[in-house]
Formats: sequence, structure tokens, C-alpha cells
Amino acid sequence: MQQPIRIAPSILSADFAALGEAVRAVDAAGGDYIHLDIMDGHFVPNITIGPSVVAALRPHSAKPFDAHLMIAPADPYVPKFAEAGADIITVHPEAGPHLHRTLQLIKSLGKKAGVALNPATPVDALDHVMDLVDLVLVMTVNPGFGGQPYLRLESKIAGVRALIDASGRTIDLEVDGGITPETAPLVIKAGADVLVAGNAVFAGGPGSYARAIAALRGKSA
Ligand code: DX5
Ligand code: ZN
Repeated sequence: MQQPIRIAPSILSADFAALGEAVRAVDAAGGDYIHLDIMDGHFVPNITIGPSVVAALRPHSAKPFDAHLMIAPADPYVPKFAEAGADIITVHPEAGPHLHRTLQLIKSLGKKAGVALNPATPVDALDHVMDLVDLVLVMTVNPGFGGQPYLRLESKIAGVRALIDASGRTIDLEVDGGITPETAPLVIKAGADVLVAGNAVFAGGPGSYARAIAALRGKSA
């Protein structure tokens, strides 16, 4: 069942010289999760932050830290992100080699486990792991950068929604990439209930974070 809409501001679009401030600001502005984009310059063509930065940010918000690992391999770093304070740890099946084992590892550390599907990754990548999954992330851009245009993947989102509903479990359906007040209604209609937003939250500066987050919910701040 589709849960209430939650907004996960991605600090990828924040000022990297002031990340703690950014986390506090989007928390205060009504962000529900803090989305952390972890990139290794190998799995994706960009490098961002590691576990030590996540640990440094942890005291700045009590909201769930939603760590999106775009790294390969992921397994050696999963315990480090767990220790750093990530609450949800999401991996891409392509990070390999054994998705089921990676999800078991995340769960064994007491964390929520997510699977991220790239635009070209089929939904059936989820088929044999649904019992281990707490979140499915549907990428609506190719991973690596903020500020890219939304790819029309509503039918894929609807397919994931059907799979989640058939599972009978409580699983977040998160979308990530190009989410704006214009594209948010499309993904919500298709069944998404967690919206990641980088550019749409941060582009207007701190004075507009609350307004920007409310606009993604289809509300005025
Ligand atoms: C892209 C990241 C996204 C990114 C989204 O690889 O996974 O989380 O920050 O940025 P926007 O909302 O600007 O598309
Ligand atoms: Zn992300």
C-alpha cells in the first residue's frame, strides 16, 4: 500500500563546504529523510563522500539517514556506513557480486535494506529478494549527477508498486532523479511514496527550502 508521501532532500546539491548546516536546514524545513549520495568514481562517474563524512553529519539531524551507495563493491563498506549512522542502506544489483548476500549483511547490522534500479535495470531484479527489502529506489535519471532531467518511467514505478503490494510487506517506493513540483505528481500517481530531490530543494537557497519541500508534496508552505 502506498504510504504517506515523504521527501528526501539529497545533499548532493548542497554546498559541500557547509554540509552540516545543509542537513540542519532541510531537517528544519520539513525533509523526512536525509538522502546521502555515495559515489566512488568507478561505479558512477563522480566521487562524493564516504563514511567519515556521514559520521560527521550524524549529530546534525535525528531524521533517518538514507544512504544511496553508488559504489562497487559495496559489501566491504556496508558495515562502515552502518557504524557511521546510516539508517537505510541502498545498493545497486550491478554493484555485485551477490545482491542477496549484501541485503543479508545490511539486515544483520540492524539497518533497513534498499535496492536501487537504474533506468535500464529490469524490475525482475527484485524477484527473489523482496523478503529482505525495506525500500526500492527507482532511478529516474542515470546515477552520478544531480540536476538531470526526469526520465518518463512511470510504468516501471507502477510495476514496482504492484510487486510491493503483492508482497504484503511495508516497503518504501522511492524515486530519485529529476523530481520537481512538475514531475512529482506523475511519480506519486504511479505509486511512489518517497521522493528524493536535490536540485528542486537546494537551487533556490536556504530561504526557500521549506517552500520547495512543500511544493513537492503539492502543498504551499
Ligand atoms: C543521482 C543521485 C540523486 C541526485 C538527484 O545519482 O542519486 O540522488 O541527487 O538530484 P536531482 O534531484 O537534482 O535530480
Ligand atoms: Zn540518490
